[in-house]
Amino acid sequence: MPMNDQDKLKQQVGKAAADYIRPHLRKDSIVGVGTGSTANYFIDALAEIKHTFDGTVASSTVSEERLKSHGIPVFELNNIKNMMFYVDGADETNDKFELIKGGGGALTREKIVSSVADQFICIVDESKIVDTLGAYPLPIEVIPMARSAVARQLVKLGGRPVYREGFITDNGNIILDVSDLHIKDAPGLERQINQITGVVTNGLFASKPADLLFVGTPNGVDIRR
Ligand code: 5RP
Repeated sequence: MPMNDQDKLKQQVGKAAADYIRPHLRKDSIVGVGTGSTANYFIDALAEIKHTFDGTVASSTVSEERLKSHGIPVFELNNIKNMMFYVDGADETNDKFELIKGGGGALTREKIVSSVADQFICIVDESKIVDTLGAYPLPIEVIPMARSAVARQLVKLGGRPVYREGFITDNGNIILDVSDLHIKDAPGLERQINQITGVVTNGLFASKPADLLFVGTPNGVDIRR
């Protein structure tokens, strides 16, 4: 199938992230790897330099399979002490590098793996840049029995939660996608939603935003710090 323009930007930015980390990698380096179509292009680019580092930690079983299909070692996070980089896409990002993530449903593992990395490099095509987060429905991972109770609390916060039918996370939970949130204080809302009993994680990455943003544009990759 021919690649569309957005996919070309995703591929470009995935390759740019691999080029960027390459000089910093050593034989014992571990790279954290995200989930999604942009992260997939990063994985493909990482395959080209797989002999320059030790291995990876994956944020989903899907990414783990893709990494292994390239012959890239994948380790358990519990066995890893240091991680130089975590590289992942996003559904939205603002100028503070605060993110909405979880379109692919991997938000909890993504947040865990990114939390241990020295640097979180977020790779996006330019369509993901917004002034205010929230046009993209915010994914929230929820313990299945708490689905309705959590949904009622989210309505009180002004959101419109929709159950992601037929989807179970790698952790055995469900996802509520919440529309109508106009997010002015992303770290505050991230904390508030995480306080709701039954919520595992929400897809706001704002208390710990990305450190570097790579933006794929038709004129090349724009690296923002
Ligand atoms: C998966 C994610 C992805 O990073 C996000 O959905 C962006 O995906 P894509 O690169 O396919 O546009 O958070 O849980």
